[in-house]
Amino acid sequence: MENINVVETTPMPRIGDNAPGFKAVTTQGEINFPADYNGSWVILFSHPADFTPVCTSEFITFAHLEDKFLKANCKLVGLSIDGLYSHIAWLRTIKEKIEFNGMKDVEVNFPLIEDIKMDVANLYGMVQPGESSTKAVRAVFFIDPKGIIRAIIYYPLSLGRNFEELYRVVIALQTADAFSVATPADWQPGDDVIVPTAGSCGTAKEFMADKENMNCQDWFFCTKKLDKEKVLSTILKK
Ligand code: BEZ
Repeated sequence: MENINVVETTPMPRIGDNAPGFKAVTTQGEINFPADYNGSWVILFSHPADFTPVCTSEFITFAHLEDKFLKANCKLVGLSIDGLYSHIAWLRTIKEKIEFNGMKDVEVNFPLIEDIKMDVANLYGMVQPGESSTKAVRAVFFIDPKGIIRAIIYYPLSLGRNFEELYRVVIALQTADAFSVATPADWQPGDDVIVPTAGSCGTAKEFMADKENMNCQDWFFCTKKLDKEKVLSTILKK
């Protein structure tokens, strides 16, 4: 058997777990996570290193979309295994010099955690030694207003994330919560939703009371229209 040298101090957090707590220094001051984010959704994400090109393109994109996430009650928190002064210098350089996909002069206003000792990266399983033992992979933790981890996505070092997909995940999770439904493949607001069968994803009381509007192709596959406006007016802040 291949001998992979894995140093794991804590088990990796999983979907449904309480987000592990930590205090950290960030570019926006100290944070107490996830307590400071109680009542908001939060995306905690890691990137491999400051002053690297893929990460730079991601930060410009995320900063550009921050208002869109905030309207969905979702805050952003970044992390890499770098020090605070590196973070500050990198973000200043991005604002002053870098243009990506037509976005320029971009200011990153969300906190970027310094994690030179890898404390938080290890706590969240962001260091995956098969990929790199000194850099965090591109991990994305979606954490709900009660501090529960609701989705996790990992990307390798070479692959920049799709931020429209990260936004879709936030909206889909909130839609599932608000309407007691599930969302099918490639779902976007306005598409039909899945009415869960009893015992799968909840009981969908509101929908079961409205059976004539359901389209049941078999006992396990029932869908229902859910108006885009209804979704967005429920989820997005005015
Ligand atoms: C990048 O962000 O460009 C990058 C970072 C670490 C390894 C490979 C690429």
